[in-house]
Amino acid sequence: MKRDFLALSQFTKAELDAIFALTRELKEKQKKEVEHHLLRGKTLAMIFEKSSTRTRVSFEVGMYQLGGHPLFISTRDSQMGRGEPIKDTARVMSRYCDGVMIRTYGQEIVEEFARYSAVPVINGLTDLHHPCQIMADLFTVIEHRGSYEGLKIAWVGDGNNMANTWIEAAAIFGFDLTLACPKGYEPDARVMEWALERTTSKIVLTDDPQEAVKYADVINTDVWASMGQEAEQKEREKAFAGYQLNEALLDLARGNCIVLHCLPAHRGEEITDDVIEGPHSAVWDEAENRLHVQKAIMATLMGAR
Ligand code: CP
Ligand code: NVA
Repeated sequence: MKRDFLALSQFTKAELDAIFALTRELKEKQKKEVEHHLLRGKTLAMIFEKSSTRTRVSFEVGMYQLGGHPLFISTRDSQMGRGEPIKDTARVMSRYCDGVMIRTYGQEIVEEFARYSAVPVINGLTDLHHPCQIMADLFTVIEHRGSYEGLKIAWVGDGNNMANTWIEAAAIFGFDLTLACPKGYEPDARVMEWALERTTSKIVLTDDPQEAVKYADVINTDVWASMGQEAEQKEREKAFAGYQLNEALLDLARGNCIVLHCLPAHRGEEITDDVIEGPHSAVWDEAENRLHVQKAIMATLMGAR
């Protein structure tokens, strides 16, 4: 039976750890220029309803490195943008392609697509989740710190798609997570409830950024206005004024902490230039790891592995 990758909650810790193990193997092969055509002759359709730099390029390059063929489709210039039903598109795509990656708004859109698709569907970001990104983030944590076990991970800023997926990750992998979000900008309540019900790890929600970053091993932040929220930019700048990841806040974290940001970043808003360019920043490794982790996800879902 086909498996989709719509949210981390669909997977066990063992399954996700196996993806990390394959990521390590594929990253090493790519660095040593050892051929790893696990998806030779296969095609991935990449459907974008929102903008992207990293997701598009990393999936496209990743598919090429696996010996397959990526296909970029913008909803704007396909029939999806003219109202063709998702269920029709999903069934047609399944007749041509071996997998589909989608970046869109509602999580229900990727879920409906996956229901009607005969081939694996990968969530390349929705308003609710960004599972490929958090897998890349955790792989970066493992590379820098050896493991995610026993770490305190902090989230500072909007309770958005990234925050929601971090909450699922904390519940599945069992690390401590403290999120500092302004009132009215908390993460999804159902995601939080799901996580708290299934884990003994400490998942704490506060509106105090200092509490979140105190003794943290990893600090994450993200833009204050996500794609689709551009009209709220000004009011969000006011609400998030005390939630900037700057040197003063970083000083409260552990001396060897790493800073993550999924990018694109707005320097001077959620993060200062000196922090993102500073010695704690792991954001370029994080961006690179999108490529390696997604290759492992595609090979797991679409290949013989
Ligand atoms: N982090 C991330 O998903 O980047 P893009 O929006 O550029 O794909
Ligand atoms: N939260 C951001 C992440 C971008 C990769 C957004 O959804 O726009």
